Amino acid sequence: MTSRLESVDFGFDEMPGRELHDVLRAHREQGPVEATRFLGLPAFVITGYAPLLDAFKDGERFPPHRMYQVGFEGAIGRSFISMEDPDHRVYRKLATPAFRSRAVESFAREGLADLAHELADGLEERAELDLVADFVARFPYLVITRLLGLPRDREEEFHHWALALLRFRDDPARAAKAGAELTSFLAPVVEARRREPRNDVISELVQAEVDGRGLDDEEIYSHVRLLLPTGGETTHGSLGNLLSALLTHEGSWEALGREPARIPGAVNEALRWETPVAVLPRMSRGEPVVFRGVEIPPDSWVLFGIAGANRDPEVYDEPDRFDIDRRPTDVLTFGRGVKSCPGMHLARKNLTVALEVLLERLPALELLDREAAVPRRTVLRSPDALRVRAVRG
Ligand code: HEM
Repeated sequence: MTSRLESVDFGFDEMPGRELHDVLRAHREQGPVEATRFLGLPAFVITGYAPLLDAFKDGERFPPHRMYQVGFEGAIGRSFISMEDPDHRVYRKLATPAFRSRAVESFAREGLADLAHELADGLEERAELDLVADFVARFPYLVITRLLGLPRDREEEFHHWALALLRFRDDPARAAKAGAELTSFLAPVVEARRREPRNDVISELVQAEVDGRGLDDEEIYSHVRLLLPTGGETTHGSLGNLLSALLTHEGSWEALGREPARIPGAVNEALRWETPVAVLPRMSRGEPVVFRGVEIPPDSWVLFGIAGANRDPEVYDEPDRFDIDRRPTDVLTFGRGVKSCPGMHLARKNLTVALEVLLERLPALELLDREAAVPRRTVLRSPDALRVRAVRG
């Protein structure tokens, strides 16, 4: 495995299914911080649970905003994800009340399941379908559009804009174009909410104040340009991985259909077993640092191997086994420390409701293409397709 490890590039290699986990396990067994490559550059990877938890909390050595300044600001603009504290804390508090646990509960009561049913309508009648294209890629955008209070006329472009924005470093011109298109779509909505606020996130942003000053239009645009892709693509990935895990573990789908009370447990286990942010890139500080005895040069890529920590045998028994009744606690899927994910309640709720609706509408499924159903890639990991046939009873 050592020679194989030397040729791995976490940015370029797809590492489908077990492959990623084998690589992360091999690194974990060799040491807490290991040299590797990311997008053709030398990098380090941290894969054990305890060292990764320390690294998440270590803003000195691994300042959490730096990667986002390099990788996001050019397309998204200045939003709290790329700010340093105290600004980060202030703007995060302003932009995320709609994602707190109680707000998500009330949103869920107001019709989250209806959105899932709307997408599921007609799927039962089809001879074959691809759950990724027909449901997984669309549901998160329906939800986030509703939360933000955006009109639905450009819906099919959201996914494309979100991906282009997130891939700013690979293709800056495409990201800039997507950012400009999204902004011209947002401008009239922001103007309308300034005149007449409603019960949505853009109205909250319009009314928010920092130090007695309201957010200007550019600040509002950049926060929407942040929330649309971060909320959309991570939910897409986690839902794809959840469905993939259930459909490739025989009997799980039908078991959950018979006993829906086990659904929240299955959602938690899927978030541990195959997380969409399998590897989270950080940039180390601008001077050399030593972490767990390893010297890291200034401005190095340091990959936070969340998928490795989530399968650390020091914390989880038989970590490679997908067990819908496991009840894992303290997974690092949503990060930790100042940047821990503000969307985690919404993400869990989205997954639970989507799965409940799909199980109700498609109670028996046959997976047609196991190869395409395997999650792939590292930073945003998910299956490319989930081709299935509904089995009629
Ligand atoms: C299963 C789905 C999700 C996963 C696995 C996930 C994962 C993460 C992780 C690992 C972080 C920490 C990043 C870091 O430390 O640099 C994070 C932060 C963040 N997430 Fe999520 N996320 C999910 C869903 C969402 C949703 C639904 C939203 C929005 C509605 C969202 C918005 C954000 C934002 C804005 C941040 C940055 C927080 C900050 O800068 O303080 N995420 N997420």
